[in-house]
Amino acid sequence: MSVTDNTPPQTNESTEVEGAATPFAASHRGFLQELLEVPPAFEEPLSRHTTARVGGPARAYVVLSNVLELKRLLAFLQENRLRHFMLGNGSNVLFTSKGFEGVVLQLGRPFERCEIKGRKVVAGGALLLSALAQRTAAKGLTGLEFGCGIPGTVGGSLVGNAGAGSESMADHLAYVDVLDWGHEIRRYCRGELQFSYRKSNLTELGQVVLGAHFRLADADPKAAKEKIAWLCNYRAETQPLRYPSAGCVFKNPRFDDMPSGQPLLSAGALIDRAGLKGLRVGDAEISTVHANFIINRGGAVSEDMLEVIRRARSRVKATFGVDLELEVRVVEA
Ligand code: EPU
Repeated sequence: MSVTDNTPPQTNESTEVEGAATPFAASHRGFLQELLEVPPAFEEPLSRHTTARVGGPARAYVVLSNVLELKRLLAFLQENRLRHFMLGNGSNVLFTSKGFEGVVLQLGRPFERCEIKGRKVVAGGALLLSALAQRTAAKGLTGLEFGCGIPGTVGGSLVGNAGAGSESMADHLAYVDVLDWGHEIRRYCRGELQFSYRKSNLTELGQVVLGAHFRLADADPKAAKEKIAWLCNYRAETQPLRYPSAGCVFKNPRFDDMPSGQPLLSAGALIDRAGLKGLRVGDAEISTVHANFIINRGGAVSEDMLEVIRRARSRVKATFGVDLELEVRVVEA
């Protein structure tokens, strides 16, 4: 779970207006080339930056090296009415084959910091959750081990309140630093953030999660490491990790989503029981290992994945009366 886009919460998707300059006029390219420490890429295939390995070209793809660059870039994009999309680890997102008519941003290495002092942990927005889990467990801290099985960044995982089992990102959070919609850094403590199952109000409060602070509990380092080893092993045995995928495609239903009298089942179990394992469109396939994953067997395009999603939803609805909700975010070009 790893994304925010530049749509201010009170408005609709596109921020382009009629008569706005064509994206990526030479002057736009020139600005990006001058501003950024890491050279920008133009017409960059998003399949290179998403874990499902699908998605057409972005007009520009940029990696940010510091907050000042980020602020200047966002101000420039706003002035020039260019759309942008904030990408985390590229794991919970599907771009179509048309790609993205704007700038795709990713936070670079300087945003991957992880500082641990006692029970306090400061993590950068671009740090991988698996790295955060490993490092905190190695210091004998418990609370974030579940993250070893989630293919996302700290920022994206907080936006979508990622989790596994009964644990989620919100549980041990102290506060989050975001760049707000006015391009100012703001700190929100946990109580100000409306976390619920796979949801937060972070995209309303800000456009980029710069970092987060967690307060963990002491654990026996051996026990924390064993928990991680167990979770990694469980994941390796129950998930199709050998193939590219966007991770779990659907959110698990809640009790209230189930028709009365039906037992609560996970999205994977519902798709499985509907007989859909192995369903294939092009090179996109419902994994035979875990039915909430759509794997890319090599040459899949986004539309293949979207068609598999459509069929899975429709069959689960017809069989169990359950409306599956997407966990993966589908981004309009
Ligand atoms: N199941 C089936 N058939 C399947 C898949 C699962 O019957 O094809 C059953 C399992 O036997 C189990 C139940 O469904 O009884 C739940 O399956 P699992 O333990 O794999 O957990 P999940 O709810 O499907 C969640 C997260 C995963 C995370 C695992 C770690 C969600 C939507 N998914 O999966 O997160 O890795 O727990 O245990 O909450 C992700 O967010 O991208 C993701 C992969």
